[in-house]
Amino acid sequence: ISYRFDLWNTKDLPYDDEQVGLDDQIVINFSHVVAENTPKGLAVNKFAELVKEKSDGEIIVQTYPNGILYNDENELAALQKGDIQMIAPTISKITEALPTWQVLDLPFIFENDEQVYDILHGDLSNSLLQELDSINVHGLTFWHNGFKQMASNTTPLLEVDQFKDLKIRIMPSDILKEQFLLLKAKPILKTFNDLYIAIQNNEIIAQENTLSNLYSKGYYSMQPNITLSNHGILAYSVMMNADFWESLTDDQQKIIQDSLDEMQRWQHDQAVALNAENYQQLKAVKELKFYTISDQQRAHWMEALQPIYSSYEKISNKDFLTQLREEIQ
Ligand code: LMR
Repeated sequence: ISYRFDLWNTKDLPYDDEQVGLDDQIVINFSHVVAENTPKGLAVNKFAELVKEKSDGEIIVQTYPNGILYNDENELAALQKGDIQMIAPTISKITEALPTWQVLDLPFIFENDEQVYDILHGDLSNSLLQELDSINVHGLTFWHNGFKQMASNTTPLLEVDQFKDLKIRIMPSDILKEQFLLLKAKPILKTFNDLYIAIQNNEIIAQENTLSNLYSKGYYSMQPNITLSNHGILAYSVMMNADFWESLTDDQQKIIQDSLDEMQRWQHDQAVALNAENYQQLKAVKELKFYTISDQQRAHWMEALQPIYSSYEKISNKDFLTQLREEIQ
């Protein structure tokens, strides 16, 4: 590994010697927090492959998984400053900057993955991406991970009263906080990178996450009660530093956008398949217990969570929730 100074970085980043050769080669450093064998990890790698191929090696996407460069707390700031060129955070992690984005954190909106695909690539998502312009970020597309389930150290989470006083990890989103407050739990903010230790220390007892995230980071070994609730979705926004985007030629921008467009369907299907595969792998773990909420239990959750939809309407002056419901139909 060697180091090369890159115009867009205040940090010198490691790069692969073999990939360098052209003086005018463009390096896009892409940082993310999850493992490589996940929907996002695989998508970032596929994107890198496509861009390299389409640009004949002129544009190189250098990937940094597992939060080795930046974590949830600082990756957006690093992107805005141009210390890194691309990130793909979970939508919930952008909601402090853009509260309207919490529309996609609302529970019990989606019934299946196809609905999620349509929303992530429809008019509403275009409006959300455009909002990134206001924070010096160029929004490119959305990627899917999957539906969130509940994992807990101690108990299945089927009935609403089983949430009472439970210390549950949340991502930084007021809607996610309110979701667990309405269930009378204790939401605690934790970055993805700090979560494992927080669970080990009993600081966190439960979390909502996709099966792929529960599997790839080994959380299930500490949180062996998994309740299949499909209560919300976890999706990513793929974004680039706006000045960096502007510095690219039309042809280079087209290569980036075409690569993302070309892999859009593949990415979605891959995410669904990987969560299904991880489900089978988790089912094979003896110590693990799976529970599924019944229709009646779901109705109880929904009743407890009812006030959350009007809370969103107070957060956002845009009618994104109505638009979301219309686009799903
Ligand atoms: C989490 O923090 O649990 C997820 O957002 C991680 C990820 O990027 O999938």
